[in-house]
Amino acid sequence: MAGGVKWIIANWKSNKSFEDSLEWINQVGAALKDKDLSSVHVVVCPSPFVLGELSHEIEVNNYPVFLGAQNISPFGMGAYTGELSAEQLKGELELTLIGHSERRQHFGETDEMVAEKVKQARANAMKAVVCVQGVETPIPEGTDVVAYEPVSAIGSGNPDTPEHADEVAKEIKEKFSGPVLYGGSVTTENVKQLIDQPNIDGVLVGGASLDPKEFITIIEQCLI
Ligand code: PGA
Repeated sequence: MAGGVKWIIANWKSNKSFEDSLEWINQVGAALKDKDLSSVHVVVCPSPFVLGELSHEIEVNNYPVFLGAQNISPFGMGAYTGELSAEQLKGELELTLIGHSERRQHFGETDEMVAEKVKQARANAMKAVVCVQGVETPIPEGTDVVAYEPVSAIGSGNPDTPEHADEVAKEIKEKFSGPVLYGGSVTTENVKQLIDQPNIDGVLVGGASLDPKEFITIIEQCLI
């Protein structure tokens, strides 16, 4: 395994009710409490309406899980109906995903908006995890973590090969000095091979993060 702590980020997308979200955090949190997690950094990005409740559960139960948003507004607080600004979330979250391909595809998010969102995250003490679809996707200044997610691999059951993902991560590292993660059809079966690549510093997990047992197994696979 390549050196350094491995990031394991769960991206629930628009899934899970309030009750299901609570059940997940209590199941995953309890399972992780008695494990040596010194080699991993576990983050969950739920839907925004449960962020407060999950933050509370994590705090009162001392769960070794960090919290992130799936998206933030490119603006600060103000008259932006429907948007959640980093300023509102300040102090509540460790990170936010930015520029996921689903946001670019369905919500018209541009590279310029992605760059504004990174500025907002950084100005409000939140790490910016920027999703890139390939080496040609711009990485804005201030980005803390990059997640390489080839569009064809997302939700398709057709992941990139560990070797190719590693090559891309290596290329990204020629211009970016932070951690580089891989995302796209990560499962309990392929996660170990992926994180064992020298240039892959973790994984962003969508579908396979929804089932608490599956996600716990993914984490177990990443423990040294
Ligand atoms: P997937 O999604 O694991 O369901 O492919 C990953 C992502 O979109 O972040």
